[in-house]
Amino acid sequence: MDSIIVRGNGPLNGQIPIAGAKNACLALMPATLLSEEPLTLTNAPRLSDIATMKVLLESLGSEVTVMNAGKVLALSSHGATNTHADYDIVRKMRASNLVLGPLLARHHRAEVSLPGGCAIGARPMDIHIDALTLMGAQIELRDGYLHAVAEGGLKGAVVPLRFASVGATENILMAATLAKGTTVIENAAREPEIVDLADCLRRMGAQIEGDGTSRIEIQGVDRLGGATHPVVTDRIELGTYMLAPVFTGGEVECLGGRISLVSAFCEKLDAAGIDVSETSAGLKVRLRGDRPKAVDVVTEPFPGFPTDLQAQMMAMLCLAEGTSVLEEKIFENRFMHAPELLRMGANIEVQGGVATVHGVEKMKGAPVMATDLRASVSLILAGLAAEGETQVNRVYHLDRGYEHLEDKLRAVGANIERVPGR
Ligand code: EPZ
Repeated sequence: MDSIIVRGNGPLNGQIPIAGAKNACLALMPATLLSEEPLTLTNAPRLSDIATMKVLLESLGSEVTVMNAGKVLALSSHGATNTHADYDIVRKMRASNLVLGPLLARHHRAEVSLPGGCAIGARPMDIHIDALTLMGAQIELRDGYLHAVAEGGLKGAVVPLRFASVGATENILMAATLAKGTTVIENAAREPEIVDLADCLRRMGAQIEGDGTSRIEIQGVDRLGGATHPVVTDRIELGTYMLAPVFTGGEVECLGGRISLVSAFCEKLDAAGIDVSETSAGLKVRLRGDRPKAVDVVTEPFPGFPTDLQAQMMAMLCLAEGTSVLEEKIFENRFMHAPELLRMGANIEVQGGVATVHGVEKMKGAPVMATDLRASVSLILAGLAAEGETQVNRVYHLDRGYEHLEDKLRAVGANIERVPGR
């Protein structure tokens, strides 16, 4: 397994291009299953999770052609009839469960393996199942698979979500485009990736209103056509790289960034003494003074502070002046970066879903272990500021969500290299 070695190397200066959103692309790709016509996605990120979704869709009979070195995906599900999403593929990536809604809508049946838990939590699917059942599906859990049938197709329904689940909102949104009648999703997730999916589905002929709010209304149609759709900018990659100059000093411009994608995050950066300015090309970020200030953070569904930026924020607050309290309210086990940061000299106390971070002046490089996607990148960021060398092991986690990370950071002055696994 590859490792990445980072050495503190002084201020970062320059531009970092931000890619298309992993979590938008992973919902957009299954939309091909809803139509006989071709779907082309541009501005796609080059990530291993995208490759995993490609394998899953091909196992269902879709064609996925990768062009422009991975930035363009041409998908077609013409004649795709397999409705069995196998455990061997699904277990690698939870987002595989996003084929459930489209398969049910188009083929009126689906056998989708439960994804199984992952490092950050059990990640059940009860909200998906309850919603699709309200739309007329019979869903039974057998041998680790969800066996779903919708005799005569799905029917529009009012679907209240007990929690604004991103994946459940995406599954229902896609399923409802071909259901008979009107579907209303109440307490829908409001993430930009939901709006991006709705934009793409509208391009395919779907009738959707209210995406981006907590009430989405979908009028079912008989069939969907093809479309070409640009994947929205990745707000989590954006937030991650916005923090880089805070660890090192200097000024970085994140190309493609807009404040609207990260407004709650920017409020916290401002309170921590970090300047963010919107330019025609993106977002320019620099630290006021020589140390960030402590701030408290609570993770919430969009438009609240994103859970996917919690680990990166914690790493930054390890070096802040004062004490910060971070509360993780989305996932039950998302502080695995804390023990690794402690190895680098951080001062963190974790009690259940609350982490108290006492800022220190300096951290020291150390060998550390990546445990999940966002925890991994928080260790890279800490390594940028630490004295000496930090070796982050098991970086396959990183490759799931950050394209060419070491190239992007090296281009603005970081001392970082990938060491192939022994
Ligand atoms: C999406 O996961 C993202 N993944 C996650 O990003 C992100 O952290 C999460 O939304 C929250 O923003 C993709 O978009 C591919 P949820 P998802 O359904 O859809 C519980 C990353 O790092 N829940 O909103 O799985 C669940 O256990 C990844 O890029 C149920 O209890 O998130 C969790 O505690 C990590 N029952 C909470 O809700 C359900 O049926 C949020 O889950 C569904 C979810």
